[in-house]
Amino acid sequence: MTYPYIETGSGPDVVLLHAFPLSSSMWEKNARVIAEAGFRVIAPDLPGFGKNRLYNDTSGMDDMALGIKELLDSLGIGNAVFAGLSMGGYVLFSLLKQFPQYISAMVLCDTTAGSDTEERRQGRYELIERLEEEGSDVLVETMLHNLLSTHTLRNNVDLAERLVEDFRGCDPKAAAAALRGMALRPDSRDVLSETDLSTLFIFGEDDKLTGLEGAREMNDLVRRSRLEVIPEAGHYSNIENPEVFNRLMIGFLNSLAIST
Ligand code: MLT
Repeated sequence: MTYPYIETGSGPDVVLLHAFPLSSSMWEKNARVIAEAGFRVIAPDLPGFGKNRLYNDTSGMDDMALGIKELLDSLGIGNAVFAGLSMGGYVLFSLLKQFPQYISAMVLCDTTAGSDTEERRQGRYELIERLEEEGSDVLVETMLHNLLSTHTLRNNVDLAERLVEDFRGCDPKAAAAALRGMALRPDSRDVLSETDLSTLFIFGEDDKLTGLEGAREMNDLVRRSRLEVIPEAGHYSNIENPEVFNRLMIGFLNSLAIST
């Protein structure tokens, strides 16, 4: 069985890879608008999230990239434009390393090509212990305030509340497996520096997790790339400011000479 996914629209294929600890539903507002602009949008659920099942104690980035490749094979898609946000970006780096032929262009959002520092890795293992004891509530307490921009926290209570529900609703075993996978992921800066693919970096101006300094470094590594910064958004730039995010995505997609 391949990864479950949501699909909308018709035209050149665009695959959207979601962040931790969310699911394909984080792309709902983006998928609809991108589809209306003339594209087929496919957004899979990564292991243990949304409608997908959990496969292992560790959801490694390479395993998830293989799952995405198998999904594309099952749909008869030879290559697509990929967008990955944060953990979705980590999966995209692995896909780029293992199966570059499946990618025609990339949008890397609020992510980092570097591996974890020792301190960050340690933080993930502590979070896993707490997840096992206290359940998914701990994700709200330890992560959410850091992910959203100050603007979102002050002005978009509905979004913050929806995310609280999403975080609480996620399976703690799936979250722990993804945290183990992220802790073990390798440095991907070498793969980025070698690619010739057209690449767009999109970052929230107030992303406290994967900040603009890292975004500029990655943008400098890639030969054919551009960095766009989204105002009033933090780490979840696609949901915090969907209007600007969608405009940038569609502008980039229209600039590529792609066809079905
Ligand atoms: C995400 O937003 O996907 C994760 O928070 C990324 C991470 O923990 O490195």
